[in-house]
Amino acid sequence: MHDQQQHDVLIIGSGAAGLSLAIKLADHANVAVLSKEALTEGATLYAQGGVSAVLDEHDSIESHLEDTLITGAGLCDSNIVRFVVERAHKSIDWLVDQGVDFTRAHEDGGTDSPFHLHKEGGHSHRRIIHAADATGKEIATTLESRVRSHPNIDLFEHHIAVDLITRQKLGKPGNKCLGAYVLDVINNKVNVFSAHHVILATGGAGKAYLYTSNPDSCTGDGIAMAWRAGCRIANMEFIQFHPTCLYHPMAKSFLISEALRGEGAKLILENGESFMHRYDSREELAPRDVVARAIDYEMKRLGHDCVYLDISHKSKEFIKQHFPTINKRCLDLGIDMASEPIPVVPAAHYTCGGVMIDKKGQTDISSLYAIGEVSCSGLHGANRMASNSLLECIVFAHAAFKDIRQSLSAKETIEKLPEWDESRVTDSDEEVVVSHNWDEIRRFMWDYVGIVRTTKRLQRAQRRIKLLKSEVTDYYGNFRISKDLVELRNLLVVADLIVESALKRKESRGLHYTVDFPVADTADKAVNTIIESKDSKNGNAAA
Ligand code: FAD
Ligand code: SIN
Repeated sequence: MHDQQQHDVLIIGSGAAGLSLAIKLADHANVAVLSKEALTEGATLYAQGGVSAVLDEHDSIESHLEDTLITGAGLCDSNIVRFVVERAHKSIDWLVDQGVDFTRAHEDGGTDSPFHLHKEGGHSHRRIIHAADATGKEIATTLESRVRSHPNIDLFEHHIAVDLITRQKLGKPGNKCLGAYVLDVINNKVNVFSAHHVILATGGAGKAYLYTSNPDSCTGDGIAMAWRAGCRIANMEFIQFHPTCLYHPMAKSFLISEALRGEGAKLILENGESFMHRYDSREELAPRDVVARAIDYEMKRLGHDCVYLDISHKSKEFIKQHFPTINKRCLDLGIDMASEPIPVVPAAHYTCGGVMIDKKGQTDISSLYAIGEVSCSGLHGANRMASNSLLECIVFAHAAFKDIRQSLSAKETIEKLPEWDESRVTDSDEEVVVSHNWDEIRRFMWDYVGIVRTTKRLQRAQRRIKLLKSEVTDYYGNFRISKDLVELRNLLVVADLIVESALKRKESRGLHYTVDFPVADTADKAVNTIIESKDSKNGNAAA
């Protein structure tokens, strides 16, 4: 007999989105927070640039709104953009109240804000509040200290949610979420977690690609679980490639923040020639889709492995003060960014699409919410503007908090849920299937579903996904689950959704560029790509 955990609220994920919601709810409810690795491990911890917010008198909400809409290439929901940017200042105040220590303005700040503000691609003003170049670490560790000390929050680290439990899956009427099956990775057993409200805060899916800025946790678990439970998934073709990740054999997924370009860093070729002026009048500060495509084109044209980012016009002191983390990492690898250009390449960075939600963070399934990178709220459209993501996490954590708090008083009794059935599985004697398929999927996604796409390459990827899916479904049905298997199964679902969405879009827009349809449709034809689970209606969602 395994444990059954019961809480008012189950939050799956402990990044900026999950921890913010846990802190907000904890005075009103008992909350369980799951983290599939150590508590702070996730994209939030590695965020560098900062959080966008209108904090300077010369800036305006209208300008933040307009920049976001332009970057989103005609697919943002303008009501949601307004909803988010109007709440940015309050979100920053909340983070400051929690103890987040943002870098204060100094004399060369160039704004009237008490905080130093960076500028990044797509933004027409300095509006990125930051903690030097390690904003995510400051936010993650501050929120961690709050949740660790709260008596109403139970933390379950190294616990990976495997699947959601819904009334529909149990063959009962109405599709309400009741909890989740969760693998305790250390003790290797699957427990049942039941709750009145379940929140997916599981982050993005950058690990679907061979080269990514994302940490290992970003395997799209929440998107896959929501899909299997019957939620609609939107805009998965819009995978953002960050233009500048460090290119060095020892640098596993290390980002070189866009804030460097905000401080005047130039992209150059091996011979020192700059090239962004040939692609966009905004040059280095054009939105990411434009810059990443330009770099990809130059690398392919010249047969080069990387391009370079040069900030050597700034003094050593300036670099140490503004970019201490990046400077240290580069120096450790023998690159002195104060005197030489940094080798950089684009890499998969952000999942703009995800689980469809409304303004309260609610999904299609009653009692199931999705907040942060796992979701598709309408904020990012076809391309996320820099530093709008952490903002989205905090704004939607608050929106979900308000909605959940209202319904906490009307408590129904928590249903006892069926145990995980392990009666027909054995221990695997073929782990190689899992590791091989992990490698294979990430390579063909990089080669066939990357920055520049064609219908033929997408179809090639689709055929491989079909084959791997049948292998993994077979494996999943016969062997005891492991964390790697759970993630692989999810990555395949996500890869399938990305390819299916990309094939559906017969135009190029924002982050989706295909040689076969290189032009964007007219504005009146701009639509979201929405994928509905074929089997969701009979409660038997696809594996
Ligand atoms: P995450 O922070 O990724 O957290 C997800 C959590 O879910 C983790 O705790 C993970 O363990 C858990 N989890 C996942 N699956 C499961 C499961 N099955 N069971 C249990 N737990 C699970 N955005 C900005 O706005 N500004 C920036 O400066 C910025 N810089 C970035 C730099 C880097 C290198 C990267 C990778 C991203 C950056 N981004 C930035 C994007 C931003 O960091 C992320 O979009 C944001 O942090 C996502 O937060 P989240 O809470 O949604 O997810
Ligand atoms: C960066 O610092 O370049 C990352 C910012 C972001 O992804 O929003």
